[in-house]
Amino acid sequence: MQSRKQKISSAKRGEPLELSPEQERLLKEGSYGERKALELLIALGDVYDASKLIPVTSVHISGASYKTIGDPGLRFLSEICEGCRAKVKSTVNPIGMDRERFHEMRVSEEFVVKQKEIIGYYESLGVLDSWTCTPYLIGNRPGLGEHVAWAESSAVIFANSVLGARTNREGGPSALASSITGLTPDYGLHKEENRKADVLFELEFDLEEKEFAPLGSFAGEICGARMPYFKKLSATEDNLKTLSASLASSGSVSMFHIEGLTPEWELGLKEECESVSVDRKDLEEIADSWNTEDDPDLVAFGCPHCSTAELGKLADMLKDGWKGPELWVCTSRAVCENIPETVQLINKHGKLLCDTCVIVSSVEDFSSTIATNSGKASTYLPTLCKQKTMFADAETLVRRFQ
Ligand code: F3S
Repeated sequence: MQSRKQKISSAKRGEPLELSPEQERLLKEGSYGERKALELLIALGDVYDASKLIPVTSVHISGASYKTIGDPGLRFLSEICEGCRAKVKSTVNPIGMDRERFHEMRVSEEFVVKQKEIIGYYESLGVLDSWTCTPYLIGNRPGLGEHVAWAESSAVIFANSVLGARTNREGGPSALASSITGLTPDYGLHKEENRKADVLFELEFDLEEKEFAPLGSFAGEICGARMPYFKKLSATEDNLKTLSASLASSGSVSMFHIEGLTPEWELGLKEECESVSVDRKDLEEIADSWNTEDDPDLVAFGCPHCSTAELGKLADMLKDGWKGPELWVCTSRAVCENIPETVQLINKHGKLLCDTCVIVSSVEDFSSTIATNSGKASTYLPTLCKQKTMFADAETLVRRFQ
């Protein structure tokens, strides 16, 4: 009978992935979930010609909303989580409802029951109480050069580009497998030689805050899976969060550099690189394409989940009142804990929802048009939530409805 190595060698080019004695032991003697998790990572490593599995210091898992994973995802979780514990710090993406305010979100009883089952499986693993796509705002914030295994495209690109951590764009199952084993295959963005940019973007003007989302979408469409390098761009961390989410949703970009700003920008560009000059009109066209309606039945902020500073700005603007449609502001429970006055102010005019977001909740059950300041939400709402969209920056949207 052929060994695993022989089978792989005859099936493909390249050397099969080497396991350490400890990893071999886990593959033979681990619990059902541990063995399945390791098999999944080995298969992934073999596909990408990884030579070994490497330890990770943190994991972020996607695939937690019942809306997105359904009954097949629930079954997968029930099997793989049994008898397993997270080996490293692990956070989880938003679920389909606020754990406390789900009645106000018009969620069905069946949905609530299934969603609670999913939460139970993740809690049995010992993940952090997170349910957010911005884990780096609540303590899962890896440093420069740390190997991690993150899912959630907007968080992956932020981790690689802004924090200088090293992760491939994991899927929910592979991130979960990394949480259970503490390992990931060593390929792609874990290797420094793969962290050079492919496309140089030069801006002919100073970027305004409202243009970060369209810029991400513009560059993401051009890059696809390639890596952009931006010249002449100053940005706050919140601007980079917006840019990250847009880049990763219009393309499948997993990392970018900004000259003089992001931690590994000096790795620079590959020798053979494309060059694109960005005109303000390019960004206006993107914003216009998202802005097809002007009578929304819901206004949604918090994609990705709001930071403390973003919530503070929204609360300040809302002091002048709100006469618009239903207002949702999404963030994590951990961010809310330290800002009770801000939370109260936003709740006076709308719903400050934790644990969830507009895309992974069942918003299509009661809404047809959503206004948002998010490029990622504008990209996904029409397809994943059957919505028409209105797009503008937060200030324009709030002032429009006062
Ligand atoms: Fe986060 Fe949901 Fe947007 S997971 S990035 S708020 S689609």
